[in-house]
Amino acid sequence: MSFYVTTPIYYVNGEPHLGHAYSTMAADVLARHMRQRGEDVFFLTGTDEFGEPVAQQAEREGVTPRELGDRLAPRFKEMAAKVNASNDFFIRTTDEGHQKRVQEVVQQVYDNGHVYEGTYEGWYCPRCADFKTDSEIAEGNTCPIHGIELTREQQDNWFFRLSSFQEPLERLYAERPDFVIPDFRRNEALSFIRQGLRDVSLSRPKLKWGVPVPWDPEQVIYVWFDALLNYYTALSYAREGKDLTETYWPAFHLLAKDILKFHAVYWPAFLMAAGLEVPRGMVIHGYLLMGESKMSKSLGNVLDPFDAIDRYGSDALRFYCFREVSFGRDGAVSAAGFESRYETELANDYGNLASRVLAMVDRYRDGTVPNSEADPAIAEDFKGIVTRFSALLDKTELTVALDEVWTLVRRLNRFVEETRPWDLAKDEDEAGRLDQVLYTLIEGLRVTTLLLLPYLPVSAERLLGALGEEDRGLAELGSRGGGQQIERLGQLFPKLEPATG
Ligand code: MSP
Repeated sequence: MSFYVTTPIYYVNGEPHLGHAYSTMAADVLARHMRQRGEDVFFLTGTDEFGEPVAQQAEREGVTPRELGDRLAPRFKEMAAKVNASNDFFIRTTDEGHQKRVQEVVQQVYDNGHVYEGTYEGWYCPRCADFKTDSEIAEGNTCPIHGIELTREQQDNWFFRLSSFQEPLERLYAERPDFVIPDFRRNEALSFIRQGLRDVSLSRPKLKWGVPVPWDPEQVIYVWFDALLNYYTALSYAREGKDLTETYWPAFHLLAKDILKFHAVYWPAFLMAAGLEVPRGMVIHGYLLMGESKMSKSLGNVLDPFDAIDRYGSDALRFYCFREVSFGRDGAVSAAGFESRYETELANDYGNLASRVLAMVDRYRDGTVPNSEADPAIAEDFKGIVTRFSALLDKTELTVALDEVWTLVRRLNRFVEETRPWDLAKDEDEAGRLDQVLYTLIEGLRVTTLLLLPYLPVSAERLLGALGEEDRGLAELGSRGGGQQIERLGQLFPKLEPATG
């Protein structure tokens, strides 16, 4: 089976921040988990470089949009590498291969009779590159996302007949109840569709920074259609001389609520119009907040992912974001909260457990894992964890799945305290019980670490190496016997002097 997962492509109108990193890390957790399940995964991220949001920023900075993109796209690429994203390709919408394919698909939509020429007048947000419907206008005639005043715009251009896809979209939502998850986002999208859909602009006349409309070079393709198409076009040129579309399309998209309408309404309609298969599904997550507000460049409340990673490593940041903020909901993050979870959970719960257990096997059994049976109580708590965990990740419940594993990590810590292996080691008659305790702990560590691998790719690799585990597939407790040699391990998450406070 193949699994194709995408992040939004980020506008090159500012430096990447933790909000962008969050989406990329989330998609990476899914990609890594699916690889562990033996799926043939393709993971895409990249940058959105056309349209007004970029052109306007370039103007403010006195550079061309091309120059701005050339400066910032590498920063987003670095960010992906920095958070340890395992993406298979990085798309830039300025790529030749993308533009060519966009034109082909748009031409197809035109040939299929879904495009006409007309005039549009309405309230417009240049930062969203979006005409707002009445229900999307905030108090004082402002954009609910950016808080800026909307401008009255009239445009002569090409239109996409979105209105004629109302019924097909309603049918799609009825037939595929999990097309958009979580449910409350699905309902939001569906009620937007049910309100009645108006046709949308497919092109822009004034703006020159975009992909030319194939049958009318005076116009460029509206940035949202060019951008959405990245998910489809990338497959056609990501690997030289090879078209991956057949192998991987349709995609599973990951994005935040700000761009729900484009992905859950415009995008499937546009694909239908082109005669292409609609996405496999999409998951909508919330915002990371600093204090009460959305983290954003313009609000100046950005927690820099580069700094955090330099200090604590990418695993710590990944772990913190998914553990702290219930995935799908908005949630606040803070430097203090980050440091505290690092200390209590990564360093103490998990890192100490690992080094203690390895040290005990080294000391009491010369580094060889005893052949034994798992302790029945622990076996009971671990029972079915792979199935439970996988089912949660199938629903992209990144936080609930992580919580499940963490409960087991804590259970193992309690097991150490309850069984006191250091006392058992003093008593020859308890040799069998000590074997069982050590075997159970090693198995518990192996099983939890395999599950944690997508969240903590660097430390999990280190620990699996020390456990002598070569396989990366998920495993239930007790599925491996003893006899293997382990190695001692230093601190997985070394203690650091706090940076705050
Ligand atoms: N270029 C469009 C997307 C086109 S996709 C075909 C765009 N770009 S963006 O740079 O504004 O990125 C928006 C996305 O970045 C959000 O949907 C979300 O995935 C991520 N985030 C940006 N800020 C965020 C937070 N504060 N919190 C969580 N995610 C955030 O829109």
